[in-house]
Amino acid sequence: MQEKLDLLTKLRQQVEAGGGQKRIDKQHASGKKTSRERINELYDPGSFREIDVFAATTDDFNKVNGEGVTCGYGTIAGRRVYIFSQDFTVIGGSLGRVHAAKICKVLDMAMKVGAPVIGICDSGGARIQEGVDALDGYGQIFFRNTIASGVIPQISVIMGPCAGGAVYSPALTDFILMVANTSQMFITGPLVIKATTGEDVSMEALGGAATHNQVSGVAHFLANNEDECITQIKTLLSYLPSNNLDEPPTFAPVEPSLDKETLVSVVPTDPNKGYDVRNVINAIVDGGSFFEVHQYYATNGVVGFARINGQAIGIIANQPRILAGCLDINVSDKIARHIRFCDCFNIPILTFMDVPGFLPGVQQEYGGIIRHGAKMLYAYSEATTPKITIITRKAYGGAYLAMCGSALRADEVYAWPTAEIAVMGPEGAVNVINRKEIAEASNPVEERKKLVQQYRDRFANPYIASARGFIQDVIDPRDTRDRVINALKNLANKRESRPRKKHGNIPC
Ligand code: HXC
Repeated sequence: MQEKLDLLTKLRQQVEAGGGQKRIDKQHASGKKTSRERINELYDPGSFREIDVFAATTDDFNKVNGEGVTCGYGTIAGRRVYIFSQDFTVIGGSLGRVHAAKICKVLDMAMKVGAPVIGICDSGGARIQEGVDALDGYGQIFFRNTIASGVIPQISVIMGPCAGGAVYSPALTDFILMVANTSQMFITGPLVIKATTGEDVSMEALGGAATHNQVSGVAHFLANNEDECITQIKTLLSYLPSNNLDEPPTFAPVEPSLDKETLVSVVPTDPNKGYDVRNVINAIVDGGSFFEVHQYYATNGVVGFARINGQAIGIIANQPRILAGCLDINVSDKIARHIRFCDCFNIPILTFMDVPGFLPGVQQEYGGIIRHGAKMLYAYSEATTPKITIITRKAYGGAYLAMCGSALRADEVYAWPTAEIAVMGPEGAVNVINRKEIAEASNPVEERKKLVQQYRDRFANPYIASARGFIQDVIDPRDTRDRVINALKNLANKRESRPRKKHGNIPC
């Protein structure tokens, strides 16, 4: 027996040694940890159980090396989470048949038991020596990512290269986290781009964390190093249920980090002035709980998670400080995606509306603002999770609907006294409906001013919409937190269904 135990120990150590000390040192020298070090940092001490430890492409078990990926499950903050973590020290973490089979098993098991799955990517892509088996392996993973979507949360963590078609597994998951300077994602690398288009671009500029967080919107979170990234993963998980039938964890309620009195003056009296909507959010949600998603992308909108009275919620808000909070192509995609994530997992959505409209412009029209903006309408209409909307100021035109006005089945809509709900802003409106009067006036400037004021007095307030029943109540901004807490209690057992169908066809 002892002999057999010794062999087991030797083989296990061999797998755990990955590609050997030299390659581990190289990994460390480049600012990266090994697959196992990452897992150890992420999981509750002693909770991780590796699976398929001895899976191999060869029957010669003396050559086992983990196949370039470490897989298993354990607990993070006491909750079960599955993981696959690619091991760059073994054949560059490249994906062959067995490597893919290990990942597929993790996805299958996570779905079976209803646990989130984390994929840490650090790989040279398809294992070239394995040819079509490697390609099929990716296909098997893509299929499972798609089937698992909306069943269990899937989190992709890029901690090294992720190139070629390999990027589509993370892209099919719910969230992508990237680490500055050590992670890259691209379909074709700098050399191929140079050869085909003549463009000169570095790996980092092409597919680094900053690029995908700010420019492409492919990534949702940016960390300065791997430790920070691990903390972000843990924070993100704290808002998520384990699966679509479960509830997110609850926490002890915390008073907001900003005094509610700030809400009285947060909206400037000058309608053309912006403000930071984060100050509204932080005066309403539990202190320190607001966790922004896509923080650096499409910053004219703010999305994320927070807790209110200890309960996890999704946040969606216009950001009046940037582009006056207008809805453009990128922010429409960002918001629609977040709505759909929250709805998949029945996380209530709290929307803050201060929106002058969709962003005008030829580039926006050419870029398809019509189909991109439609995604928001579609996502809010489709969502049956509790939806609460707070109108803080402007609610104009189609954007009023797109930010979850009552027509899209918001369950509760509240307006602050500063709310202005109309087809368009006063300046634009008088240009259309009073053009003749202004042109014929002895003093067109004064006439225009007078008409703008008349329009503002008549339409730019929350009371006409309230009279029609489009708004539940006009509230003192300081009461917003209490109103939202009450609304969430009220909606706790909400049941709403849509007609049965194979699936809808969201504009894209
Ligand atoms: C087999 C690979 C490999 C691969 C790296 N290695 N990528 N082995 N298949 N795809 C091996 C190397 O031979 C080396 O082995 C070890 O991993 C580390 O690689 P290095 O090149 O020494 O590391 P580094 O200098 O850090 O460069 C990393 C890299 C580079 C930029 C990722 O390795 C690289 O360009 N690899 C190829 C990338 C690629 O073109 N992949 C295919 C993409 S297409 P030794 O023994 O020396 O340590 C694709 C299609 C998917 O993935 C389609 C899905 C639908």
